[in-house]
Amino acid sequence: MEKKIAVLKGDGIGPEVTDQALKVLKAVEKAFGHKFHYTEALVGAVAIDATGNPFPAETLKVCQESDAILFGAIGHPKYDNDPKAKVRPEQGLLAMRKALGLFANIRPVNTYKILEKASPLRADLVQNVDFVVFRELTGGIYFGARGRSEDGNMAFDTCTYTREEILRISKLAFESARLRRNHVTLVDKANVLASSRLWREVVKEYHAANFPDVTLDFMFVDNAAMKIIQQPAFFDVVLTENMFGDIITDEASVITGSMGMLPSASVGSVVALFEPIHGSYPEGAGLNIANPNGAILSAAMLLETSFGLLTEAKAIRRAVEQAMEDGILTIDVRREKPNSTTEVGDYVAKLVESKAVVEA
Ligand code: IPM
Ligand code: MN
Repeated sequence: MEKKIAVLKGDGIGPEVTDQALKVLKAVEKAFGHKFHYTEALVGAVAIDATGNPFPAETLKVCQESDAILFGAIGHPKYDNDPKAKVRPEQGLLAMRKALGLFANIRPVNTYKILEKASPLRADLVQNVDFVVFRELTGGIYFGARGRSEDGNMAFDTCTYTREEILRISKLAFESARLRRNHVTLVDKANVLASSRLWREVVKEYHAANFPDVTLDFMFVDNAAMKIIQQPAFFDVVLTENMFGDIITDEASVITGSMGMLPSASVGSVVALFEPIHGSYPEGAGLNIANPNGAILSAAMLLETSFGLLTEAKAIRRAVEQAMEDGILTIDVRREKPNSTTEVGDYVAKLVESKAVVEA
């Protein structure tokens, strides 16, 4: 198979973790006889520094001309503490999501036996945790009207949703549930918000008409925040709007033992984007300490979702697990004698290239 991949390494630890994912993709090419063409483009603070724009037109073009996008992270502290900054790296991410129509952000959360001790939760709670969050990504309060009064003493952000926006992500969530454990939980705040009441109404109707075989339940977001800690194994597919999804996926990520483990996919109608959920972690940038597994597992999601390469994706997942079982762990999951970012990348790539984990 021959495919084009846009590579947007971005800021902070983005470049170093993405480099490990690239190593692993190159190992897949060798072991399974594929050819991937990689085109790098700028996004985030590095793009602001180079062009003044966090998501330059050239980057959009590279993405549109590719079959999939591998993304690192964006964000830089020099913008975080300056409320007056006119352009921010995060605007690049939001602009990219909107321009590419990436309306669904898919974040799987599963645990690994070997990381049980790294989780802040008791081992018995962490067992059998395997759920996936479908977070709406191009609507809601992130994109609604916002502003500031003339005297500067009032500000507002609005959360807007249309039936159409709710339906298209619901379809993906229900389809996913059918391939999993047939259980969707809609997380909202329908006891307060009109937009949440629309979500409930639309999802209920859609479920009854198209997916009556799937169990559907509803949970207020504050209750869900609690349940994710008290009984994470309850969840199978979580469907939710943009900001609730942002918050609960950070919460859910720590169950695994490290946020550095989690991959994600952002999909729309055209090209899809794959990124670790951990962000740019500027304090760790350039130190070769970051956990590259979230980025490597994002490459696995890319192969599976965009190219349909299921065996190759599975080989990567097994290699990541095998590497951890062999004791190849970064500092976020083992404080004593940790391995470096590049050591993990090399080890996983070697396992994939030798196909040791496919035949095993
Ligand atoms: C994420 C991030 C972004 C978001 C930020 C960087 C804009 O937190 O991808 O979850 O809030 O969506
Ligand atoms: Mn977030």
